[in-house]
Amino acid sequence: MSGAPSLEPRPGILSIDPYQGGESALEGRAEVIKLSSNEGALGPSPEAVAAYRAAGDALDRYPDGGCTALRRAIGARFGLDPARIVCGAGSDEILGLLARAYAGEGDEVLYSEHGFLIYPIAARAVGAEPVKVKEVDLTADVDGLIGRAGNRTRLVYIANPNNPTGSYLPADELRRLRDGLPDGVLLVIDAAYAEYVTEGDYEAGAALVDETDNTIMTRTFSKIFGLGSLRLGWAYGPPAVIDVLNRLRMPFNVSGAAQAAGVAALADTAHTERAVAHNAAEKARIALVLTEAGITVPPSAGNFVLARFPGGADQAAAADAFLKSRGIIVRRMGAYGLPDSLRITVGLTEQMDAAAAAFSDFMAQGGSDDG
Ligand SMILES: Cc1ncc(COP(=O)(O)O)c(C=O)c1O
Repeated sequence: MSGAPSLEPRPGILSIDPYQGGESALEGRAEVIKLSSNEGALGPSPEAVAAYRAAGDALDRYPDGGCTALRRAIGARFGLDPARIVCGAGSDEILGLLARAYAGEGDEVLYSEHGFLIYPIAARAVGAEPVKVKEVDLTADVDGLIGRAGNRTRLVYIANPNNPTGSYLPADELRRLRDGLPDGVLLVIDAAYAEYVTEGDYEAGAALVDETDNTIMTRTFSKIFGLGSLRLGWAYGPPAVIDVLNRLRMPFNVSGAAQAAGVAALADTAHTERAVAHNAAEKARIALVLTEAGITVPPSAGNFVLARFPGGADQAAAADAFLKSRGIIVRRMGAYGLPDSLRITVGLTEQMDAAAAAFSDFMAQGGSDDG
């Protein structure tokens, strides 16, 4: 209708580049090896699957909106106060809620150069400006982040370890970051891969949350617990921030099936231990094969490795095509500012055998599509 205001989304939303998940299918192939989304190699605990199935008997009932049993189980497993935990439909939901709660138009949200791409999306969704801070050696730069934080900065998102680089900030560096940021800036430690980390100087972030009133840690059931499809994540934070999240989140944001599976997954500690051991062994094995083939692999604390090709972006693209011709899907890294790289999730041993052979063959035949 002429004269009427046109239908417009809020500022910032149309500047969002929609998140592209890892590919999961290849045309003409019934079966693929999917190493593109950092999903836990061993899948979920059979106990979690059984709990999920049992939840099918009560689909007509609304879930517990407070995730009481799940928060209690998380608290027991990680030694945390359940009252300071909030659960979400994936940690993505919580990362987005934090931007909604603490940032808006005119504000800045800091994240590191090759940080997880949900952060700029979360910032833009609320009209805030995402600010990418350069990394040093593919690692978040504590001094750079502190130096860039100003009056307009409301949030700093740090994935620790980071996806896709695999790098991490040791506990003392994370503390130094917190100390150097203004008190009015919420530090969000996204510890999606915490359970995989074996490095001794790493802390997931709960201690820092306890020591401050402006730090929150997010976690997920999508990685080591193998429950990505159910969408389940959680955060541990200061009481005031948890209170804000509980006001803002939708009342039944986590399904009953996800809650039940989460509780069962937490109880199966043997499954998690197997997953940690498997990951460490297979990650080291693929890193060695890639390195011997002439591909650079930076150290990774997560369940994935970054493969950096000496021949740059063209070679990375050719390697990706070569792998796909063998039914193997990994992740291109152009969107993360690393066009010369592919990210490979640690999968099952036979999947890693296939990936290792494909990368070796690709490099041995000259490292190009037509080599
Ligand atoms: C660093 C990081 N944070 C969060 C997530 C999202 O996890 P969720 O499935 O819990 O939303 C991912 C998944 O790839 C991730 O890599």
